[in-house]
Parts: sequence; structure tokens; C-alpha cells
Amino acid sequence: MTILVLGGAGYIGSHTAYELIDRGEDVVIVDNLETGFLQAVHPKARFYQGDIRNRSFIDSVFEKEKIDAVIHFAANSLVGESMVNPLKYYDNNLCGTKVLLESMVAHDIDKIVFSSTAATYGEPERVPILETDRTEPTNTYGETKLSMEKMFHWTGKAHNLRYVSLRYFNACGAHKSGLIGEAHNPESHLVPLILQVPNGQREAISIFGEDYDTTDGTCVRDYIHVTDLAQAHIRAVDYLVKGNESSIFNLGNGIGFTVKEVIEAARKVTGDPIKTVIVPRRAGDPAKLIASSEKARTILGWKPEHADLEEIIASAWNWHKNHPNGFAK
Ligand code: UFG
Repeated sequence: MTILVLGGAGYIGSHTAYELIDRGEDVVIVDNLETGFLQAVHPKARFYQGDIRNRSFIDSVFEKEKIDAVIHFAANSLVGESMVNPLKYYDNNLCGTKVLLESMVAHDIDKIVFSSTAATYGEPERVPILETDRTEPTNTYGETKLSMEKMFHWTGKAHNLRYVSLRYFNACGAHKSGLIGEAHNPESHLVPLILQVPNGQREAISIFGEDYDTTDGTCVRDYIHVTDLAQAHIRAVDYLVKGNESSIFNLGNGIGFTVKEVIEAARKVTGDPIKTVIVPRRAGDPAKLIASSEKARTILGWKPEHADLEEIIASAWNWHKNHPNGFAK
């Protein structure tokens, strides 16, 4: 199969391209390199630099390449930024996806798997969260992802296009080769920020609030290895290729860890005491987000292979200690 990976130079996109190529698939990558890195593009993939909002560019890719299915990661994904600059998120995530869908429909490409998020749920009614639970995003990022899901739904009905939406919980970890890993600028995610302490780039890790209604007062999240996420995308493509109907799946381990537990695991992995400071809550953080991934397990036959938190952090550490500045020289 020839799979087009949009955003294949980014964190989850690059890991998915590596897994696809490992499985022997033919991979085409499109990325505007706004937040992605050329060094993250697999050397065996055919790479086109460009933006999904540019209709003639995306048309030209579909004309040059015979694409069997699309995996779509090309979006902005920072919750904080989405609250300060909401229109950037509407433009890239929604307008970009609209142009992409127009081009797919015009070229008779009828299968797409795309990144959604736990942020579509907002403050959850209960944990573990089911795909059928209330979706009431509390930030623009989650709102644009939920709107993307709806755009796929209605476009799919009208144009015979099928989609799988994958709602990720907290992606972390890095590829086993040590060649690619998480690199955001600025970094805002917990695991890479913790590892900046043993890497000598940060004095201490800030804990955003210790007065939540959880076992130790810090927020609980469901941390999932990026390679397990990548494998779920491949399963989702296979699911669509077999002719199955459009669907939405949560992706997480189904186990929650507090911020303090994540820091403790990082201490074990790195052997560093990792200093902490307690600071006020970050606005908009729900106390607990844990996925029910039963649907993905049952229907996609997906099972996380790297669910152990210390194993996840060890893979991230293997990347960060050798690439303290990410992909920058
Ligand atoms: N945290 C800290 N200190 C830090 C950074 C984070 O205590 O320096 C805490 C946060 O308060 C949160 C947990 O660590 O409780 C994880 O925070 P991240 O920023 O790593 O991840 P989020 O859970 O906020 O965000 C993730 C995804 C988003 C997605 C969101 C859904 O990264 O893309 O889940 O709620 F939108």
C-alpha cells in the first residue's frame, strides 16, 4: 500500500512513518516543517514540503502519487496556544482539513485515519472515559479536533469517504532506535520537561497543583507510548481497507498515573533526584483523564505493547539524553 502521512515530520507522525516502513509499506510524507523537523522524516519515505491549506500543492501530491489511504497528523496541538490564538487553530486544523477533504474527494481517495484527542471530552463525566461519553471541550484545540471529527462524518456521508478518528490520551516515549523522539519548541509536556532536570537544562520540575481530589493531590493522566499509538494507526488503516465503517476510538493504557508518580518513575530511570516545586494549578487541567480503550482492543485488535511507565520513560530518556536540544544541531 502507499500511505500518505500528513505531518509525518512531527512527533507522532514520524513514529508512525517508521512503523509503516518497518512493515514494508510505501510511505509518502507531507509536512510544512512549521513544527516538524526534516531530520525526523524517514529516509525511505518520499517527502514533499508544503501546506495542506494550499489546494494546488495537495492536488499535485495526489496527482504524482497513487495514494491508498491518508493518515492525517498535520495540525497545531498546544492547548495553551489555542486559547491565546484560537483563529490559528481554526485556520490550520479546520480550514486545512477542509482543503484536504476537497482534494481527497476530487481524487477519489476514500480512506483517512486522523489524530484526535482526549481534549474533545473536556471535563470528563467519569473515568475511564468511553467514546460515547459527553464531548464538551474546554479549549479551542479540543473544539477544533471535535469539529474535524464532525467534518469527516458529514463529508463521509455525502462522498462515500470513510474515516477513523483516534482520540489520544498522553503520548510520550521515543522510538527504540533512538533516532527520533519528542521535540517541541517551546516544550510544554510533562515527560520531556521532567527529563530536562537530569539533562541539566532545568533546576526543578514544577508540579501544577497538589490539591486535586486524587491519591496524592496531583493530576492523573493516562500515558501511552508513541510506538503503541503508531501501531494503532496501522491497525486503523487495515480496518478501513477491509471495508469497515467509520468509527472513533480512544487510545490509552487505561491506567492513570499522578504527576508525582511520573516524577518518581523518572527518578528510578535516570538515577537523578529530580527536584520539584509546587506551583498553582494550570488553568483548564481536569483532575483525572483515563481512557477506556476497550473498543480499540476489541474492534481494531490493538493492544499496547509498552504499557510500563518506567519503560516508556526509559525510551524517552534514551532520546533526550542524546538529543538535549531535540533535532537542533
Ligand atoms: N504538568 C505539571 N508540570 C509541568 C507540565 C505538566 O505538573 O511542567 C502536569 C499537568 O498539569 C498535567 C500533566 O502534568 O496534569 C500532563 O500535562 P501535559 O501538558 O504533558 O499533558 P496534558 O494532559 O495537559 O495534555 C495532553 C495532550 C494534549 C491534549 C490533552 C487533553 O498533550 O494534546 O492531554 O486534555 F489536548
